[in-house]
Amino acid sequence: MIEKGGYIRDIFQKPVGTSVTAYGWVKTRRDSKGVHFIQLNDGSCFQDLQIVIDAGTLPEDVLSQATTGACLRVGGELVESPGAGQSVELKAREMHVYGPADPQTYPLQKKGHTMEFLREIAHLRTRSNTFGAVFRVRNALSFAIHKFFQERGFLYLNAPIITTSDAEGAGAMFGVTTLDLMNLPRTETGEIDYDRDFFGKKAGLTVSGQLEAEIFALAFSNVYTFGPTFRAENSNTPRHLAEFWMIEPEMAFYDLEDNRKLAEEFLKYIIAYVLDTCAADLELFNKRIDNTVLSTLVHVAGSDFEHVTYTEAIAILEKAGRAWEFPVHWGVDLQSEHERYLTEETFKKPVVVTDYPREIKAFYMRLNDDEKTVRAMDVLAPRIGEIIGGSQREERYDVLLNKIRAQGLPEEAYWWYLELRKYGTAPHAGFGLGLERMLMYVTGMKNIRDVIPSHPWLRRVLNRRKPHPMRALL
Ligand code: 4AD
Ligand code: MG
Repeated sequence: MIEKGGYIRDIFQKPVGTSVTAYGWVKTRRDSKGVHFIQLNDGSCFQDLQIVIDAGTLPEDVLSQATTGACLRVGGELVESPGAGQSVELKAREMHVYGPADPQTYPLQKKGHTMEFLREIAHLRTRSNTFGAVFRVRNALSFAIHKFFQERGFLYLNAPIITTSDAEGAGAMFGVTTLDLMNLPRTETGEIDYDRDFFGKKAGLTVSGQLEAEIFALAFSNVYTFGPTFRAENSNTPRHLAEFWMIEPEMAFYDLEDNRKLAEEFLKYIIAYVLDTCAADLELFNKRIDNTVLSTLVHVAGSDFEHVTYTEAIAILEKAGRAWEFPVHWGVDLQSEHERYLTEETFKKPVVVTDYPREIKAFYMRLNDDEKTVRAMDVLAPRIGEIIGGSQREERYDVLLNKIRAQGLPEEAYWWYLELRKYGTAPHAGFGLGLERMLMYVTGMKNIRDVIPSHPWLRRVLNRRKPHPMRALL
């Protein structure tokens, strides 16, 4: 029995002469006279382990099955590698094929595939170089996010996924119901009778864990959520998903300035962590996807973000002399073209925009003394636009109640949220980072659908003959 070698990542650390067993999937195979070469990868690192098989060492029926895509166990001895780019290679003595892959039909070939094609084989694309790198970086980012908050004493909480409150007040919730859709119960006035539904109320999937995080911040001081969120908004863009992951810290006794500083420190920290731990993966993105990724990350990790108020941002955009698709004047929401102008042309780095008009922001944001703007902040990044949205929260009972009423929101649904202001209220603030937007920024990937563990049924949805308005969101 040959000693188990563990991950390929660890095998590279072992000295020449060690007997190891490697497990993984064949990336490529090359046969030359008297010797066969296999590139084996188990996802633990970017680098493939080169397997060298001298002709005649292994039974022909085993060797013939070890083609691209096959899953293998290979035992042998580590030898010095004459090839560039790797220190050791594995000289095979024994091989077992767990799962062959018919080379005639296996869809992942050595030639570069388009992202569109890879999206159609989402169940196999995880074995490609690019997607291996995407998901290792996603893993590193997630770990860095927890590390950042845990090192600062924040309490991690899991906000509920099924909820009855639309945190953003934007009506973009997916419904959750057990009612028979073919035979809906009706009230006397003809509306759907949610009293008879599972929760006795209209319920849906959460669009944000913020309101629940506020409950916790007003008991544990500093907290964060990190979980799935859902939005049924019809934004057919490369940066919107129907299901995405959001990180939402919430801090008692923080004002907008503290919030902004924490967001900047946080983004720099997680970028530095990825630069430190995913060098080989980032090299790949720099080479294959976007040759500015590495220099941008190094630059961002080491420089201060820009800060402008919404009013200042509008002035810059008005002076730009551009024919905007969405015309600019004080009061309009910033569109992607405006966000990109500010980050890519004006400042050439991330920009924090604060103090937006109250009409275009959510009801919970703290009203400024001018009564026209709220203590909102968006962090905008080059290429991506908004990656963080946040604010100082309205902690004054009367002001909050007025805003809920002014926006026509159902007051009774927010009774508990109002009570947090009635009993022991405190100034507090927080923000939300979209994990996938951050991952796009770090990797340079152009489409948000290429940084998610996409569903195998996506292919069917994409191939639907009649285009569905939501299809690009999946
Ligand atoms: O700006 P948003 O809507 O803010 C909130 O949800 C607040 N409750 C956050 C808070 O203050 N705790 O969303 C926050 C971030 C955005 O900046 C973006 O990165 C991401 O979530 N996001 C999306 N990512 C992918 N697909 C979508 N449809 C997204 N909508 C928002
Ligand atoms: Mg936002």
